[in-house]
Amino acid sequence: MSRKVRVGVNGYGTIGKRVAWAVSLQPDMEVVGVVKTKPTWEALSAVAKGFKIYVPEGKEKMFEDAGIKVAGTIDDLIASVDVVVDATPAGVGASYASLYRRAGVKAIFQGGEARDVAEVSFNALHTYREALGRDAVRVVSCNTTGMLRVIYAVSRVARIRSVRGVIVRRGADLKEVKKGPIEGLLLKPVKPPSHHALDVKAVVGDWLDIITYAVVAPTTLAHLHILNFRLDGGVRRDEIIESLRSTPRVILLDSAYAPTSTAEVRELARDLGRCGDIYEVVVWGDSVWVEGEEVSLAYMVHQEAIVVPENVDAIRAVTRLTDDPVESIRLTDKALGIGGWMP
Ligand SMILES: NC(=O)c1ccc[n+]([C@@H]2O[C@H](COP(=O)([O-])OP(=O)(O)OC[C@H]3O[C@@H](n4cnc5c(N)ncnc54)[C@H](OP(=O)(O)O)[C@@H]3O)[C@@H](O)[C@H]2O)c1
Repeated sequence: MSRKVRVGVNGYGTIGKRVAWAVSLQPDMEVVGVVKTKPTWEALSAVAKGFKIYVPEGKEKMFEDAGIKVAGTIDDLIASVDVVVDATPAGVGASYASLYRRAGVKAIFQGGEARDVAEVSFNALHTYREALGRDAVRVVSCNTTGMLRVIYAVSRVARIRSVRGVIVRRGADLKEVKKGPIEGLLLKPVKPPSHHALDVKAVVGDWLDIITYAVVAPTTLAHLHILNFRLDGGVRRDEIIESLRSTPRVILLDSAYAPTSTAEVRELARDLGRCGDIYEVVVWGDSVWVEGEEVSLAYMVHQEAIVVPENVDAIRAVTRLTDDPVESIRLTDKALGIGGWMP
């Protein structure tokens, strides 16, 4: 495609606003506009960033009364884009699927939607080629994206026989003042596997023996995972470390002065001008334990940011801007400043 791919974002919340900004930074894409259903502070922020606002039919006056200029309706936006990134709340995206299909625009859904909303469950390292030219793909959840990157790194060293994991999930995003828990640790679900294991299988295939427990914790900063792998054959620790170091979108903390908490990693990112958003999985080097065929490790996932580069790659895959995942990841990462920033 010689012109820039035209992108609309439906659902301008935690994920949608970050994806819109990330798309606006790409050399081969442009943001035509974003959908808001209410004239909230996030609508004002979208206007301040120069994004055109599209609204559900009949809501134009509500926005105009709030002093927010409306560029058109959702239908108008859909009619003028090549791709819609649907970042509406979990389960709402499916209600738009037929609208996107009828309009002949490609759709990128998020991990809160059921697997069958799309033809492919997407992760750039695993299923980029499967997504080429598809009409609908689903970028899997933040936790699943984190696991998939680490699974990819380990699978480059040896065939994985099984994965067992504990996922400590943040209770809410920073802006979600009505969510929790604010005290206590909540096993959700009590009986494993949590949906994350099933979502990993949706990407890599049912052959993988994977069980995950999920615990919701009173924090907004990040998730923390501990995974244990059993491999086919023994591996050396330095092989795992090297593979983690060379896997895209994985940061290995290996300095003697490395931060040891999610809070300090987030603060370090802010110190280094990252607006607090960490697109990479951050693995604690000292947590990597290898004995024979067994590998364990711990890492953090910044839930608000990690799926953002995956959405950008998903746009390139469905529009076939490039058929090469390595090239797409390179372009996305360059535009977003991914990798090489952690001292
Ligand atoms: N937050 C995370 O950590 C995270 C991480 C990975 C994936 N995800 C997934 O990403 C998706 C979006 O989650 P999110 O956290 O970004 O949610 P969010 O912060 O609640 O944002 C969704 C936005 O959609 C808008 N919206 C609500 N109903 C709508 C409708 N019918 N049509 C169009 N827009 C509507 C809302 O804004 P207005 O109504 O005010 O316009 C809301 O701000 C979900 O599938 C979620 O599972 C979330």
